[in-house]
Amino acid sequence: MCGILGYIGGREATPLLLDGLKRLEYRGYDSSGIAVISEGKLIVRRSMGKLSQLETLIEKEPVDGKIGIGHTRWATHGRPSEMNAHPHKAGKIVVVHNGIIENYLSLKEMLMGEGHTFKSETDTEVLSHLIQRYIFKGKNFEEAVRSALEDLQGSYAIGVLSESDPGKLIAARNESPLIIGMGVDEFFIASDVPAILNHTRDVIFLDDEEMAIISRGDIKITDPKRKEVKKNIVKINWSPTQAEKGGYRHFMLKEIFEQPQAIIDTFRGRILKEKGEIYWEEINLSPRKLEPIKKIAIIACGTSWHAALIGKFMIEEFCRIPVEVDLGSEYRYRDPIVNHQTLLILISQSGETADTLASLREGKKKGASTIAISNVVGSSMVRGSDGVIYTHAGPEIGVASTKAFTTQLVALYLLTLHLGKVFNTISAEKRRMMIQELIRLPHQVEEILREESKIEEIARNYMKCNDFLYLGRGINYPIALEGALKLKEISYIHAEGYPAGEMKHGPIALVDEEMPVVVLITRDKTYRKVLGNVEEIKARKGKILAILDHRDEGMMEKVDASVFLPGTNAALTPILFTIPLQLLAYYIGVFKGTDVDQPRNLAKSVTVE
Ligand code: G6P
Repeated sequence: MCGILGYIGGREATPLLLDGLKRLEYRGYDSSGIAVISEGKLIVRRSMGKLSQLETLIEKEPVDGKIGIGHTRWATHGRPSEMNAHPHKAGKIVVVHNGIIENYLSLKEMLMGEGHTFKSETDTEVLSHLIQRYIFKGKNFEEAVRSALEDLQGSYAIGVLSESDPGKLIAARNESPLIIGMGVDEFFIASDVPAILNHTRDVIFLDDEEMAIISRGDIKITDPKRKEVKKNIVKINWSPTQAEKGGYRHFMLKEIFEQPQAIIDTFRGRILKEKGEIYWEEINLSPRKLEPIKKIAIIACGTSWHAALIGKFMIEEFCRIPVEVDLGSEYRYRDPIVNHQTLLILISQSGETADTLASLREGKKKGASTIAISNVVGSSMVRGSDGVIYTHAGPEIGVASTKAFTTQLVALYLLTLHLGKVFNTISAEKRRMMIQELIRLPHQVEEILREESKIEEIARNYMKCNDFLYLGRGINYPIALEGALKLKEISYIHAEGYPAGEMKHGPIALVDEEMPVVVLITRDKTYRKVLGNVEEIKARKGKILAILDHRDEGMMEKVDASVFLPGTNAALTPILFTIPLQLLAYYIGVFKGTDVDQPRNLAKSVTVE
């Protein structure tokens, strides 16, 4: 949600800012802007709409300089417009900000009372005025920023420049992500790693309330008490090409096709095939620590929440521990029952989702042990949890999550095997078999990806429909939710996911000849029941797109379109069912001409509540 970037060094800042912002555009894309200090003067360029509009503006009105900040916006306070686009300037101060300043109205009133005039409707502009106010009062740049931050309530990641101190870039964070890229004789600040991967892989993760004062050859980081803190430099092992489209038309398609490798990367080095055991470096949960655990709670948002729902099926079935699943946005508001006997699992691709982070804090406060399942090294969730299971999906740029989701499911499968050993609920033999099936999975995903053109054809035939229904049962019911969510996000078509057994309690009223129903069919104890649903839909002339976990020629004749998946164990079927649903949503989006990688109104990382 909003991307910020900053540069100080020996190179021209503008092209670096534009390039980095392009890589952050998935965080927000309703307006953008940069500020550069050029021959001692602060120059600001801002534009409504996508980054390409800012590029066009800068082509016409170029700006030179070796220090600058930039922003790509997802509107919270104030509609998308040039006036509300960042950076926001007050006097000689300019600010880019990601987050929400909760007390901005009272601060604005106070500042207006003192004669400050505001040009935008944003909360951010308050901060530039506050800093300028402290400078008027005689504080130096660094102290003015620190004092202004002390007045704020809410979340922020900021980059600040001052015309009076043209060799300094100041950055700070509280509950919104911010990293510092350490180049050779140059520094970057950014909301996320992909923005700077082309220039450096050495990164410092700022912690809450820390502030970095950066000049050309030096960086100083201070805590709220103004004490200097020493920070570790973390080496990021993502390569710059992983954050490029690599010949694909969209990041989403590339990321769908990266899944076989991402799955391998997530289990590689972690399975001891012969022993049927899982080897973790980072989970930090010894059997002794797990002993008191009586309940697991899994918390997440969006697609990660669908992974959480599947995790419940896996863990309860194989480990016989009760699991509850909550949305990050709901959890802390319902006074959950959590204590030292609870294991709290937070699932988040970005590791920065505000609601999931707040749930982590809530759980910790009540004494829970915590594990983050995250794709981003050093993210806030990872640093705040007792242990971490990284998904090794590589950078995910498409706003709609694909490979991050399937690797989360792999991580949950590994965790299930681990807990099954610790709690002695899965025999060694069974664990060995389950690992064998996991090893086969990437090839099976490849097999499904080879059906791309068939799914493209189905998408072409159904792209004009206005509503879709997705039905699944048991462990694949959350995949019905995920299929519907993907379609909504990418194509803006209304879609709903339901457990198939619930069809008669409402959604059947929607079924008519215009309504495609995507039915996920597994050959298990629910098979006959789902066949009953298929008949009921047919009787009402609904169109049936069936996805089956086995080959079934008879079904082909009954339904309007069918896709067959290779066979695996029940706990891994959700991964296989996901692939055709991702492709279906992708191609419907493409045929409808939507902006697949950056769908309207969405942001990849929701860092505000
Ligand atoms: C946003 C994204 C989704 C994502 C969700 C949770 O809504 O658009 O794709 O699933 O946030 O994100 P997280 O990073 O916590 O997994």
